[in-house]
Amino acid sequence: MEIQKIAEAILPEMIDTRRYLHMHPEVSFHEKKTYQYILERLSHYPEVTVREGVGGGGLLATIGRAPHPHIAIRADFDGLAIQDQKDVPYKSTVDGVMHACGHDGHTSTLLALLETVNANKDKLKGSISFLFQFAEEVQPGGARAMIADGVLKDIDKIYGQHYWSQYRTGLIKTKPGPIIASPDYFEIKIKGKGGHAARPEDAADPIVIAAELITNLQTIVSRQVAPMDNAVVTIGMVEAGNAFNVIPDTAKLTGTVRTFKQDVKENIRDIFEKEANLTAEKRGASAEIYYQFGYPAVINHEAEAGVIRQAAADLGVEYEEAKPLMIGEDFSYYINERPGSFFFTGSGNHDKLSDFVHHHPKFDLDEEAMLNGLSMFMKILEIEQVIEWKQPSLNN
Ligand code: NI
Repeated sequence: MEIQKIAEAILPEMIDTRRYLHMHPEVSFHEKKTYQYILERLSHYPEVTVREGVGGGGLLATIGRAPHPHIAIRADFDGLAIQDQKDVPYKSTVDGVMHACGHDGHTSTLLALLETVNANKDKLKGSISFLFQFAEEVQPGGARAMIADGVLKDIDKIYGQHYWSQYRTGLIKTKPGPIIASPDYFEIKIKGKGGHAARPEDAADPIVIAAELITNLQTIVSRQVAPMDNAVVTIGMVEAGNAFNVIPDTAKLTGTVRTFKQDVKENIRDIFEKEANLTAEKRGASAEIYYQFGYPAVINHEAEAGVIRQAAADLGVEYEEAKPLMIGEDFSYYINERPGSFFFTGSGNHDKLSDFVHHHPKFDLDEEAMLNGLSMFMKILEIEQVIEWKQPSLNN
């Protein structure tokens, strides 16, 4: 049976699984029921070895005939603290929590892949590991803990994907090299001196200092980062004051920096500290900075990005070279340790209302996209020569 026919046959089950998970979302680091659900599903396969509690809250399922090649596929399973505003029968049953990023689809696809591999275990040539990862959305994330717990020990290569509502269903996108940015978080608290609005000479106005600092920070990208190094500085929150005629004591700026290179990232952090301290100091105030480095950037390995492109071509699925996205993804940790690559599976379909941006309260997945998600993994495993899906022909 061709790969796509196998995927079509299992699509109804994938949809059921995805809808079950969609109705029962849990936030990062608290995915107890989701974990139990996956564990229960894994118990149906006597020949699959299951390691429980990996890194705290993850699961590792492995099936194989030979130790190598050993390819891993990873899916995350956490939801978000967002109120589901969709009007669908499978909407979240948990108040204030929903799968608004498609991780329910990732997990459903990986379970279907496991079922498919298990049903074809006579065709295995090496080993396949299925990584069910908790807590992708919240720092420090689940990937690092799972790696520290030895999840990659016997693994040669690793692949992962994200359903992506901003690419239309039918499209596969990736690229060699940097594909997802490193998202850093910062808070700057300016401690000035409050006073009466009519007597600024007695105060150190943190609002004016904040305004100056905002402008200074915005020139980092244009003036202090090389033109070919991508970076974003966004201040998403400005908090100060609560009366029109009072100069407040403090002002707070909160935001994010997105980069692709470690040296650029560290350089921007240093400039932030210098700018904040100098700007505050010269106006008689002080600055307190909290700067948290996010996940490293996802840098695809060239050969494995090529495998993904090849898989799409072999399947006759439309492929486009991706542009790097300034989001974040802790899949980076895995491919900092092993060869591998990450790709996007388009799931945007306006007619199905599945083109809301990720983390939107009306986010939904075009479930048909799971056909491509599953087929791609099956084809990648074939190209990596760990399994041969085709039945040997009886005629030759
Ligand atoms: Ni996500």
